[in-house]
Amino acid sequence: MEKDYTSFETIVAEPEASSMIETFRAIGYNLETAVADVVDNSISASAKNVWIDFNWEGDKTYLTVRDDGSGMNNEELVQALRPGSKNPLEERNLKDLGRFGLGLKTASFSQCRQLTVLSHKQQYNPVFWTWNLDFVNKIGEWRLIKYTPNDEHLKQLQSTSSGTIVIWNQLDRIVKGTSTENPENLDKFLETMEIVKRHLGMVFHRFIEQNKINLYFQQRKIDAWNPFLLGEKGLQPFPDEPLSNGLVILKGFVLPHKSKISEETYKKAEGPKGWNEQQGFYIYRNERLLVAGDWLGMFRKEEHYKLARIQIDLPNSLDKEWQIDIKKSVARPPFGLKNQLRQIAGKVRSQAVEVYRHKGKILQRKYSSEEFYTLWNEKIRHGKRFYEINQEHPFIKNILSKGDIEKKDIATLLKFIEETVPVSLITIRESEQPEIQGQPFEGIDHEPIRVAMKQMYNSLIAKGRTDDQAKGMILSIEPFNIYPQYIDSIN
Ligand SMILES: Nc1ncnc2c1ncn2[C@@H]1O[C@H](COP(=O)(O)OP(=O)(O)OP(=O)(O)O)[C@@H](O)[C@H]1O
Ligand SMILES: [Mg+2]
Repeated sequence: MEKDYTSFETIVAEPEASSMIETFRAIGYNLETAVADVVDNSISASAKNVWIDFNWEGDKTYLTVRDDGSGMNNEELVQALRPGSKNPLEERNLKDLGRFGLGLKTASFSQCRQLTVLSHKQQYNPVFWTWNLDFVNKIGEWRLIKYTPNDEHLKQLQSTSSGTIVIWNQLDRIVKGTSTENPENLDKFLETMEIVKRHLGMVFHRFIEQNKINLYFQQRKIDAWNPFLLGEKGLQPFPDEPLSNGLVILKGFVLPHKSKISEETYKKAEGPKGWNEQQGFYIYRNERLLVAGDWLGMFRKEEHYKLARIQIDLPNSLDKEWQIDIKKSVARPPFGLKNQLRQIAGKVRSQAVEVYRHKGKILQRKYSSEEFYTLWNEKIRHGKRFYEINQEHPFIKNILSKGDIEKKDIATLLKFIEETVPVSLITIRESEQPEIQGQPFEGIDHEPIRVAMKQMYNSLIAKGRTDDQAKGMILSIEPFNIYPQYIDSIN
């Protein structure tokens, strides 16, 4: 039973407005994830169009996100602007992109010190409220201000049946200290904006592709960026893999080899962060992309896996299990699913390597004769198993046919031998039939051992060793150690 605390003394300890609101700034958004979080709200409010605009005015630059969604009345707007508008535990509409009741505030405050929201709901008058961080700091209270920086926005809303405008003023994280006089500042700012635009095209690509929404950036439509090159020749899709009773769907893709697609397609497909970075899982929550290319701690990103991209689709009912964060940029698979994810990813990754090596393989097929040359051969001699270097191997043959073998040839040869020891074959054979593994020189002429022993002996004696010392040393050298019987016949 729950303990009853009503008989105890209590005291109010409200969060302090000024410090709390500054804390909201530190959740770890960047400009693009922050804007995406605001656009999430527009989509959840059934907007058909969202316009993202900025006005470059140096440190007075401001940014707006306007939508033609359902809008809010006064009461709803005030509630929307309250930190913690909704309980994260609350069940959400199937298509809702929200979870925490915080995004609008945390995303905005991460980038600006003043947030104004104007909204127009059908059959209500347009309304507006403003958060100003300095004002909250000054009065030490969570108080909204009935203020809008620009009447134009209000007029704009009045002329439409419903919608919302979010305005970010005092963008101290992006434009502080910049000026319209300085062209470099503008260049830098435009670069940052370009990143935002590409990010939106990626995060909301499904909505754009399915014509569920039009996103405009400075009046220009944002193009969708699809990570999977759907419809391209040479794309290898894997079958859907339903997990968690079908609530989660995985689908692997191996993207086409560079040689199969146009240069332009290849360049576009590399995505915002480049081919290598964009490999991995793509996690969608209600069709909205949260994670764009991450192996979720299971594997490292490596060049030869760069064609592997795996889509994971989640419903918002699994937010808790997948540890969705406020920024909507992190998701962590539940422990119980990790093995399955790893297995499926393993298959896609192996296929991706195959495709990656495609060019070399085609050449191999085209130019190779029937014969394949291994460096090592497995042989059976008098019922025992041995491994020998293949003297028909073109490289070995070449060396042996030379009049003078150079030192570097020998070094290369030794390296080849070391690097190609047929370890897996040996391991399998050894576990199947350990008894038939032959000893060195078992069943063949031992003359080469005796000759080598003798050479070794002579050189040791020449270096001043005694007869006993020389013999002792020889017997501690592989493979002489196996044949001590020859030591006495050495001299
Ligand atoms: N553009 C909008 N149009 C209509 N309603 C909106 C809009 N933006 C926000 N709201 C309302 O404000 C609420 C709070 O938004 P906020 O982004 O802070 O939290 P959330 O979307 O509920 O959850 P999350 O923290 O996961 O984003 C939303 O639930 C929604 O009801
Ligand atoms: Mg939200």
